[in-house]
Amino acid sequence: MLNILIIGAGGREHALAWKFAQDARVGQIFVAPGNAGTAAMQRVRNIPLTRVEDLLAFAQKENVGLTFVGAEALLVEGIVDTFRAAGLAIFGPDRQAAQLEGSKRFAKDFMQKYGVKTAAYASFRELDAALAYVQDCAYPTVVKASGLAAGKGVVICHNRLEAEAALRAMMESRRFGEAGAEVVIEEFLDGYECSLLSFCDSRAIVPLVSARDHKTIGEGNTGENTGGMGVVAPHPRFGAAEMAAFRRDILEPTLKGIQAEGMDFAGVIFFGLMVNASGVYLLEYNMRFGDPETQAVLPLMQSELLDAVQAALDRRLDDSAFRWQDAHACCVVAASAGYPGEFRTGLPITGLERARFHGLVFIAGAKQECGEMQTSGGRVLNCVGVAPTASEARQQAYDAIAQVQFDGITWRRDIGQ
Ligand code: AMP
Ligand code: GLY
Repeated sequence: MLNILIIGAGGREHALAWKFAQDARVGQIFVAPGNAGTAAMQRVRNIPLTRVEDLLAFAQKENVGLTFVGAEALLVEGIVDTFRAAGLAIFGPDRQAAQLEGSKRFAKDFMQKYGVKTAAYASFRELDAALAYVQDCAYPTVVKASGLAAGKGVVICHNRLEAEAALRAMMESRRFGEAGAEVVIEEFLDGYECSLLSFCDSRAIVPLVSARDHKTIGEGNTGENTGGMGVVAPHPRFGAAEMAAFRRDILEPTLKGIQAEGMDFAGVIFFGLMVNASGVYLLEYNMRFGDPETQAVLPLMQSELLDAVQAALDRRLDDSAFRWQDAHACCVVAASAGYPGEFRTGLPITGLERARFHGLVFIAGAKQECGEMQTSGGRVLNCVGVAPTASEARQQAYDAIAQVQFDGITWRRDIGQ
């Protein structure tokens, strides 16, 4: 029996634990730190650890045979290097490859060097030079904090004044801390977005089912950006022609670059794509699963996740590690009132048993307190429908979420429309 350690606290990690728990070869599953959803699972134990050295000591003591890193922060810190040096199996990019997510400047330079199709860009460390650049660039333009900013460090600027304000907020006021010490300014691309998660073992990259995230808080793609308010998979518009263009213009040059740079890891690459009449463009690499993409993609996966991870760790990844249900998934996120701004926590959650009658429920920002489940985050939980057609999957997800109650619960009514 293999003991598994999953690192993270979101709906993504609940979905990962749920998938691993279906595998008879898996023994104990630990989630660090986990949430109320993972706490309630059989064979799963939450552990309140978040520092690399504590996690390593725990993994050694508890005979953990595989560590799966959900969230990006520890990857950029180099948790994979530390575990590997200690001889432990860990799935994720090492510190160097994690820079493909941790530094947008590094990622854009990599894309340019290896001919990955992406928006034209310039990068800056000096505010004055950045301000000079936006005096006569084309608008709209996109200003991005280079470092990790939890998805919030991207501003679409419609004119010079907006660009100047965004640059000053990032580089002068350090609105995103050190993440804004360097900025990337790039060409605005029109089109629709697609999330393509993949497994990489540095010899091959195998894409999973495509997914469509819904990033803004408001219906009809209005309002502020969030971590993601809902997902459908497969993506309704990303077909065989787009997949072929993605392989040629993005996947293959990325793999060449990984090999040329001597990056050697087994982990996830999540391609954030923009598709328009000129082709498929790469907006960004994430070096981990998406949240909430994972909650829609994993329920469609028929093969065992452990087989895919093991194939990657053994550097023998190919499509055979993945079998997919011929079905659709729809994931709707229930959020706290006020998210992505200020929100209250500690509100009791009810109706989960009834929701589970209609679909899958993955818990995100919620904790078990005084014998009840309470909200503890902005994105509180996910309801997922899986069905032969997209509209049935949607109906299941919405029937499920309608059963859930907590004070101020909000969700988008247009996921998948
Ligand atoms: P990123 O973190 O780089 O994926 O950016 C976050 C979001 O900003 C993306 O999901 C897009 O919605 C938007 N975005 C980023 N770059 C561009 C671009 N060059 N053109 C248009 N929208 C963009
Ligand atoms: N849902 C987008 C992300 O995980 O970054």
